[in-house]
Amino acid sequence: MAFKIKILFITFFYFLLNTKHSDSKPVINPLRDKLRIVGLYLAAHKYFEVDRRTGSEMTWKYDERVYHKYFPLPRLKRLHPEVRTACDQGVLTCIDVIADNAVKSYSLKYLTLKYMNETNPSKPFATPLELFQYRASAAYFLCWFTMQRSEYLMNYMSGSNCLQDLEKVKEKEVADKDVVDFRHDSIQNPFLCAEIQFCPNYCYGRRSGGSVPSQLALIKDSGNPCKHLKDPTCTILPNENTDFDGLQRNMFNISCSCQRSGFIWSSRFELCVDVDECKLKTVTCTNGQVCQNLPGSYKCVCRKGYRFDAESNQCVELVPIPSHSLSRTGRVKAIQQKTALMAMFEYVIGLRNNTEP
Ligand SMILES: *[C@@H]1O[C@H](CO)[C@@H](O)[C@H](O)[C@H]1NC(C)=O
Ligand SMILES: *[C@@H]1O[C@H](CO)[C@@H](O)[C@H](O)[C@H]1NC(C)=O
Ligand SMILES: *[C@@H]1O[C@H](CO)[C@@H](O)[C@H](O)[C@H]1NC(C)=O
Repeated sequence: MAFKIKILFITFFYFLLNTKHSDSKPVINPLRDKLRIVGLYLAAHKYFEVDRRTGSEMTWKYDERVYHKYFPLPRLKRLHPEVRTACDQGVLTCIDVIADNAVKSYSLKYLTLKYMNETNPSKPFATPLELFQYRASAAYFLCWFTMQRSEYLMNYMSGSNCLQDLEKVKEKEVADKDVVDFRHDSIQNPFLCAEIQFCPNYCYGRRSGGSVPSQLALIKDSGNPCKHLKDPTCTILPNENTDFDGLQRNMFNISCSCQRSGFIWSSRFELCVDVDECKLKTVTCTNGQVCQNLPGSYKCVCRKGYRFDAESNQCVELVPIPSHSLSRTGRVKAIQQKTALMAMFEYVIGLRNNTEP
């Protein structure tokens, strides 16, 4: 009897464990694991890679690392065909294919002991140029998916540093620099790790080699476009950065908070500009008045030649003032002269037989 109950219990627990297993693990974790690999692989590119289109094995070592600031300049002429084909099919296929190549790479070889004695630094690609093209293309796409706020890229590093393990990638040995970013556990932005790993850090960490060690460093970074403002907080506007072509060209749209009300940050001019309230749907003028934009605000006014009459609560036509009668006479005279000229013209072309107006 007791034995039977025991079996029943075991079966029951097994059942419990199994349902839990099939409910959560297979759906979320493989994607999360892949993203951690892809994130590391592309962060290694962002922080430690140099432009392989120019220079040589000899000079690359001394080249400045700049991909924490912007994507390759000029942009890639051709995206890597494998990345392109995969990522055109959507974010999941994109991650799958890039993760596959990442685990075969020399860069992350400590992750897979299978490739421990690999000596080709471009693995799984033939040349450093192809590896560069592959990872730059992958970064374009994943940054683009991040800006589109793809739900799959949310919080995949939650609870751990986005740049965890970065010092273990092979590129670090050559680049010889440390990268830190204190923001990794941001609750406000569930896409922060995706932004840190895939996109150039357009707001912060640009001059400090990509590091953002503290809140103060974040604000003081000389590459921060908002640093001269009272509130130097710089924000990437995801919904304004979804143009793939613009992204490749480093045309990032950021926002600074403008102190004066009625002003808004212009990415294009890199300064706070006046909001034209008259163009907003929320602004309407009544009683026959029209909207007039002012610096920082707007007002409703009557058209030219009209004035506001408080009694009728309407715009009324301006009545000519008698003291201006002199100029009125002048106007009548001008009209008379014009009529006489017309009569002369009509006489000349034979429309009439006299020149009297
Ligand atoms: C790589 O390492 C494995 C075991 O460590 C060994 O059997 C194999 O021959 C090595 N391959 C090369 C190409 O050195
Ligand atoms: C930023 O905005 C400009 C102007 O609207 C646009 O041309 C550009 O493509 C945008 N950038 C991105 C990355 O979407
Ligand atoms: C000229 O005009 C007058 C009056 O308008 C008319 O009686 C006369 O027939 C006209 N002469 C010619 C030549 O058209």
